[in-house]
Amino acid sequence: QNQCTREQHRLRYHVSPAEHWINDPNGMVYYDGVYHLFYQYHPYDTVWGPMHWGHTISTDLVAWTELPIALYPDEIGDIFSGSSVVDFTNSTGFQTNPDIAPIVAIYTSAGGEGQRQSIAYSNDKAMTFTKYEGNPVLTDPNSGDFRDPKVRKLLNGKWVMALAVGNKIEFFGSDDLKTWNKLSEFGADPEQGSHGGVWECPDLFPLNVTLAAGVTLEMWVLIVSINPGGPNRGSAAQYFVGDFNGTHFISNPWVNTQWLDWGPDNYAAVTFSNEPQNRVIAMGWMNNWLYANNLPTVAWRGQMTIPRTLELRDLNQTSNPIRLTSVPTSELEALRNPLEYVGNNAEFTVPPQTVIQLTEQATFKNPAMELEITLEITEQPGFSLCAYNAGGEEICFGFNETRWYLDRSKTGNTGFNQEYAGTLYATAPREITAEEMKIRVFLDVSSFEVFADDGLTSMTSLFYANEPLDMLYLNHWSDAGSSATLKVKNFKVWGLV
Ligand code: FRU
Repeated sequence: QNQCTREQHRLRYHVSPAEHWINDPNGMVYYDGVYHLFYQYHPYDTVWGPMHWGHTISTDLVAWTELPIALYPDEIGDIFSGSSVVDFTNSTGFQTNPDIAPIVAIYTSAGGEGQRQSIAYSNDKAMTFTKYEGNPVLTDPNSGDFRDPKVRKLLNGKWVMALAVGNKIEFFGSDDLKTWNKLSEFGADPEQGSHGGVWECPDLFPLNVTLAAGVTLEMWVLIVSINPGGPNRGSAAQYFVGDFNGTHFISNPWVNTQWLDWGPDNYAAVTFSNEPQNRVIAMGWMNNWLYANNLPTVAWRGQMTIPRTLELRDLNQTSNPIRLTSVPTSELEALRNPLEYVGNNAEFTVPPQTVIQLTEQATFKNPAMELEITLEITEQPGFSLCAYNAGGEEICFGFNETRWYLDRSKTGNTGFNQEYAGTLYATAPREITAEEMKIRVFLDVSSFEVFADDGLTSMTSLFYANEPLDMLYLNHWSDAGSSATLKVKNFKVWGLV
């Protein structure tokens, strides 16, 4: 195959390996000016296989440089998902250079004796790792699903690990990352969250939220990936908001499952440790186990979402008032080329049953773009915003009756797996006709990430068009005779990279 065919669908500003298979992001950590992203990597094939930790780094969360493999399988097993921490106090005793804090990776060894947790340390700022001779450091008497340790340091100096164990999360505590004792469990109750599949890749972190009443308080968020059982089938990540008292996670008594991302292609999302501005920044594997091994790319298979800043917002409503929002991390603004299009430089109204070809006003030649649209809609049923090309391929995002939706059924290659096609829906956490709202879309050659209503609903979807989607239209389809208005207050488009 020539280079051109091998590189068809290659994303321009997302992390993807030069060659071969990747899945979950692992060990995300910041240290001394560098963001490290490791990932599940099979260096000999483009399908899942014996797992290594691949490695890529960035100084700005925008441009990434792939480095040599960080962790290879060993006699204990393959290297499954996990996290990294900076051991500033040398609690492990691994430190060899007083000016460089050890970075410790905590991961699952998956081998003949089941799934067990191991650690490896680096004294050269995560460039090379040494496996601890006492591995594994945490074993499971039942040797079932027992994996994906995510570790953070609490204010009292203790390390706490969230671990996926079958259909629930278990928490473990440690002083030195080598000896662990079980603290508690969460989620065994079928009422707690979604249980349509196995729980994987947890993450636990605090976030401040300013309540509608004006008071700011700290709450804890637990993210749990689940496969299958996602809202649009297959893999997805749910989250819980509550409190963590040092040993137990206590979820607020809200029964609805809440989804970090309603799209089909954001799995195993976890956050950076030691983020320098104290932000909570997540990245996910932009894929779905339903069809991950069949994606129609040639040289490589698998990619990450853009980094997203997570925050909590109080919707001041009775049902599930505190929501996690996701917005593109601000550094991504560096990708923007000069503004290509501003909607009439002013407001415009789209009458009912009208399609506005935005390409009458401008042409977007770049298959990588960012859109920002602020609109007001007075009445259902709805509208859509579509990116399309002259060959009739298109991907649309919009609102229909009561739900957000994303339709990738006309984006070229949809037949590589029968689970792939179909319209994808998201339940809006609040009425969308209520007030002005902002929608942001990040489009890359083969990915569409939308952040609606200031990140209250996000949907991530891959697509495989034969030609770049380089034009846009807006469609407003209220009932005949309706006086509904769709007012576009602001519409900006940037080519990216
Ligand atoms: C999630 C997952 C993890 C596991 C890893 C193996 O996608 O199944 O639970 O550690 O992938 O590659």
